[in-house]
Amino acid sequence: MLTITITSLSGGQGKTTSALFLGRLLSRAGLPTLMLDSDPQHNLTTYLGFELEPNQPTLLEFLKKTVAPEDSIYPTDYNDNLFLIPADDQRKRVGQIKRLITMLGNSYSKQVKCECMSC
Ligand SMILES: Nc1ncnc2c1ncn2[C@@H]1O[C@H](COP(=O)(O)OP(=O)(O)OP(=O)(O)O)[C@@H](O)[C@H]1O
Ligand SMILES: [Mg+2]
Repeated sequence: MLTITITSLSGGQGKTTSALFLGRLLSRAGLPTLMLDSDPQHNLTTYLGFELEPNQPTLLEFLKKTVAPEDSIYPTDYNDNLFLIPADDQRKRVGQIKRLITMLGNSYSKQVKCECMSC
């Protein structure tokens, strides 16, 4: 599984935009692609058309293992290959990126070919 993390120490540098377009391109190329939104601004989640209810699982519930992993993974309307683990503004920033990559690698390396992460 290929993991692509888009990160920058300063804001407004195009992280979310890059993740969004990379995810779209990879999924259109036929690769099952999982997008991860780890930012409480949840722009990636919004750009993909999601408006979560407060009780819907996000990346935080995935990390805390309070829901089954598959319950925090949402299909998108973009195409059948693009999936999202969303963020919402109720949550603090998820900073456990290394642990997250390991968890996802262990769980989904057979099903998912690419991960795109907006931090
Ligand atoms: N390649 C680009 N060319 C021109 N404008 C861009 C480009 N990439 C992003 N932008 C614009 O720059 C602004 C910031 O982009 P984006 O939200 O992706 O940054 P970010 O790094 O995710 O910001 P934040 O730190 O707030 O999460 C947006 O208005 C976006 O449309
Ligand atoms: Mg952003």
